[in-house]
Amino acid sequence: MSVAKKPEDTCVLVTGGAGFIGSHTVVELLENGYHAVIVDDLSNSSAKAVDRVKTIVGEKAAANLTFYEADVNDRAALERVFSENTIDRVIHFAGFKAVGESVGKPIEYYTNNLGNTLTLVDVMREHGCKSIIFSSSSTVYGDPDSLPLTEESPKKPATNPYGWTKWMIEQVLTDLHTADPEWDVVLLRYFNPIGAHESGLIGEDPKGIPNNLVPYVAQVAIGKREFVRVYGDDYPTPDGTGVRDYIHVMDLASGHVAALAWMNGRSGVEIFNLGTGRGTSVLEVIKAFSKACGRELPYKVEPRRAGDIAENYGNCDKAAREMGWHARYDIDDMCRDSWNWQQKNPDGYATA
Ligand code: UFG
Repeated sequence: MSVAKKPEDTCVLVTGGAGFIGSHTVVELLENGYHAVIVDDLSNSSAKAVDRVKTIVGEKAAANLTFYEADVNDRAALERVFSENTIDRVIHFAGFKAVGESVGKPIEYYTNNLGNTLTLVDVMREHGCKSIIFSSSSTVYGDPDSLPLTEESPKKPATNPYGWTKWMIEQVLTDLHTADPEWDVVLLRYFNPIGAHESGLIGEDPKGIPNNLVPYVAQVAIGKREFVRVYGDDYPTPDGTGVRDYIHVMDLASGHVAALAWMNGRSGVEIFNLGTGRGTSVLEVIKAFSKACGRELPYKVEPRRAGDIAENYGNCDKAAREMGWHARYDIDDMCRDSWNWQQKNPDGYATA
């Protein structure tokens, strides 16, 4: 069982803490009094994100943040982190995350995502730290038989290596608890995170052409891309376009803080969906973003994208019931904050 501690006495290791969800979560941790240690190799993130987290939280809270530029799979580096800090709990974000890329690079995805998790939990065990929150995904539900998805909905075969790594890591952590019931594991299954911190200082910074809808729409809005490609308007959904449960990244961040408070002093394996419980179509997203940026964004309907499902949204009552957490932001808020970030950082963290 993990020891119950106050936030100010709790040090949380955040792997991938310079990334999109990681950086927003670190803001929430520091603002709630926690100490945080980021381990991030910056392979798909920027040291600027760490600096900006410090700006957002201010000097006093920033003093509770330590950053190591290191690969979680680098055992020696991780050993150093654990010997230089008393880590109480871990939030594990670090991993490759591009669905399409994972299809062409399965070895890289399995080596990185599974490998770094195995290294991490082994080093944690060595140091007597058995408390972990894992950044999972609603992708583990596959193509759902019925909606909304609850935590009891069956896991289905993943459709790509990225999805399999989430699926398998959930299993690894569950097996770990079976072998040693002292482990305290929370699997957070996210729906589609978008938005940005309201300051516009941190946000999502995709490399190259964005694969995900909202970053792409944001680049159309800023004039970098001509029009939005709508992948299919013949799905069995109200307007024919794909429906997803978009969630503001700050809601997701507060979900992690709620999970930390909830798991304080417990042990077990617990799954929580983190979403809004509301589905929004591609056309509705384009409309909301058009409202946010003040002009009608052009789009063209194209064929369906391989591997996409029609509709996906969660029932998030369990997180509300157990942890007292619920999403506060709606799709208009999410688009407003994504646009604010995009406008202030047209080239992401590379913006001068
Ligand atoms: N879409 C477009 N045009 C685009 C991009 C996407 O029409 O340029 C559509 C898709 O067809 C889909 C919706 O917008 O209907 C959302 O697509 P995203 O690529 O933004 O998100 P996905 O739902 O495909 O994937 C997300 C995460 C994955 C995660 C998955 C399931 O990116 O990491 O949800 O949880 F695995």
